[in-house]
Amino acid sequence: MESPIIYSSSEHVSLIPEIVALHQACITQPPCVIATFLPPFKAGGMEAWWEQRVYEQEQGYRKIILQMAVNEKTGKMDVAGYCMLGMPVSQTGPFRGIVEKLLVSPEHRRKGIARRLMERLEVVAKEEGRTLLTLDTVTGSPAELIYPKLGYIQVWINSSAHVFLFSATYKTASLPRTA
Ligand SMILES: CC(C)(COP(=O)(O)OP(=O)(O)OC[C@H]1O[C@@H](n2cnc3c(N)ncnc32)[C@H](O)[C@@H]1OP(=O)(O)O)[C@@H](O)C(=O)NCCC(=O)NCCS
Repeated sequence: MESPIIYSSSEHVSLIPEIVALHQACITQPPCVIATFLPPFKAGGMEAWWEQRVYEQEQGYRKIILQMAVNEKTGKMDVAGYCMLGMPVSQTGPFRGIVEKLLVSPEHRRKGIARRLMERLEVVAKEEGRTLLTLDTVTGSPAELIYPKLGYIQVWINSSAHVFLFSATYKTASLPRTA
């Protein structure tokens, strides 16, 4: 399998329908992740949302990371999974990054794709100076089990959502040394 890639508007715009289809599959197929939209999906609504995310990447506020892989059933190259690094503007917290939409196609799960995507995201985050990564997951979801395996630490729980913080070794590595 090739390495995860960063979405490029010039090369990957034709993948938007597939990105949307994967998003929809993760929402509708068990274990049915909560991911911004609810079925029935309004025509064009999710495409517009993804186009907005692409715009944010073009403006420097986001990175969209894709994993392509051959579908063993069809022999075709699929968007097998993706995740995003949100890089909000913050003068007081320029080191903060937000992990969003780690979604792997039901046809490509348990092959290490989420791990590969997150490893790439963390390299990109470090390059961008985003050394403290945060995310939230739904209680009881598979994500709740996988993030600790990827080095994330649970910091808060309520009845409907979990919040994890990355162990943030990057942050201490990049802090200026004191005399
Ligand atoms: C959760 C999800 C991203 C995992 O993707 P994946 O590519 O199958 O995960 P990987 O194969 O990279 O597995 C990474 C680790 O998590 C573990 N894992 C993956 N799915 C798991 C599951 N359902 N239950 C328990 N552990 C799981 C793997 O064993 C692996 O750990 P290991 O390397 O120590 O063995 C995928 O199932 C998915 O897209 N689910 C729906 C969307 C979702 O919940 N996304 C998270 C949004 S917050």
